[in-house]
Amino acid sequence: MTTSRRTFIAAASAVSAAGIVAPFAIGGTRAQSATRTINIGLVGCGGRGAGSANDSLTANPNVRLVAMADITSDKAKSARDELKKVYGDRIDVPESRIFEGLDGYKEVIALADVDIVMFATSPGFRPRHIQAAVDAKKHVFAEKPTCTDPVGYRICCDANDKAKAQGTAIVTGTQYRRQSSFVQGIARIREGMIGDVLSMTARYCSGPVWYRGREGGMSDAQYQIFNWMHFVWLSGDQPAEQAVHNLDVVHWVMGGPPETCFASGGRFTKPEDSEMWDSCSATLAWSDGRFCDFKSRQLPQSASDHDNVVYGSKGTAFLRAFNSGTQIFDRSGKELFSVKGDIGAAYQQEHKDLVNSIIAGKPIVELRQTAESSLMAIMAREAGYSGQKLNWDWIANQSKLNLFPQELDLAGSLPTPFVRVPGTYELV
Ligand SMILES: NC(=O)c1ccc[n+]([C@@H]2O[C@H](COP(=O)([O-])OP(=O)(O)OC[C@H]3O[C@@H](n4cnc5c(N)ncnc54)[C@H](O)[C@@H]3O)[C@@H](O)[C@H]2O)c1
Repeated sequence: MTTSRRTFIAAASAVSAAGIVAPFAIGGTRAQSATRTINIGLVGCGGRGAGSANDSLTANPNVRLVAMADITSDKAKSARDELKKVYGDRIDVPESRIFEGLDGYKEVIALADVDIVMFATSPGFRPRHIQAAVDAKKHVFAEKPTCTDPVGYRICCDANDKAKAQGTAIVTGTQYRRQSSFVQGIARIREGMIGDVLSMTARYCSGPVWYRGREGGMSDAQYQIFNWMHFVWLSGDQPAEQAVHNLDVVHWVMGGPPETCFASGGRFTKPEDSEMWDSCSATLAWSDGRFCDFKSRQLPQSASDHDNVVYGSKGTAFLRAFNSGTQIFDRSGKELFSVKGDIGAAYQQEHKDLVNSIIAGKPIVELRQTAESSLMAIMAREAGYSGQKLNWDWIANQSKLNLFPQELDLAGSLPTPFVRVPGTYELV
């Protein structure tokens, strides 16, 4: 789902003709200036970090990239150099503005001329990074998922409320919310095209996920951050890391999180030191009787399905993933509505909306919504790991699960990874 280099360059050339600087004022509590551009600082310069920066630069001719941070400066430099080939002077990141290590994000946030801090590290860092940016009154773009445990969820909720109160923006990387095929499909569901919504299916089922083997000389911390998908504190496991896209659509259609969750899953193929499960399936239930059958799995040689389907009293809506579009049928099978999908446009729309909301002085703050979708995934994972039926009030307000290491030092060791097994796994 990362923008390919070809699209990246084609899209960028289309925009460059439009020019760079447009006069405007920046909203929120930051100093206003009628002529300045919007400056971005990027934290986490891997595939999606470079992709998000590219999307913002393509969508917003007045945006510049002015600072970067990654665990190693090499990563930031190579992303900078690639972006510079396309955007030239709009990439203004000298060596003095490339920061490395675990505290590099603080240096980016501390720069007075950075307007938006963009976070695309592994998700485990996200709540504390967002919190620091909001405390410094920066606008934020945060990739999904925004948390991997309930304590992180509550940090996100506090940051959401603080940003709202102080007038700074937080837009998140749940792009389906801005994809025309989803927006149009869900508008028709709201207008009653399929009658009353009764139930949904939500699937993120695909082939195996990447695994980055430990390289010589790596400490535990370096290795886990490098191979982050496989450690629950960093990725949240597949329901949070990947399937949060589907659960966010469920949150959207159903109008909020479920009341209860009953789940099951396990693992058969993951490498020995991975904490990930291969699959997790859950039934999410709302108090009015609606429910969603959710499945996430990453297994070799198994059928892929990434779609959401909404079942109503008068018809069925297929909200399909990526570019596959939306189709709505009545109960006799007659097509009532059909539209193509364009996920690339949605990735850019996130950044257009963020920048426009800042310029208009009406900053979008949507972190709570995405934190709730992330917590729905965490609830499914924890219900699967424990074999227990969980309810929303417990996971949102009572669970004390905090996966972030008490001491984190890049050169240091970390607790031994372990696989959660129902019957022995304890909920906290
Ligand atoms: N919205 C989408 O469709 C979409 C698509 C892909 C990835 N993502 C999300 O984007 C995030 C990044 O994914 P990716 O594929 O780019 O991963 P990646 O491994 O390619 O990049 C992550 C980068 O973050 C850096 N990093 C890790 N911890 C850091 C820290 N504490 N401070 C600074 N840098 C740090 C790593 O060194 C690495 O360069 C994830 O949350 C992922 O779920 C979203």
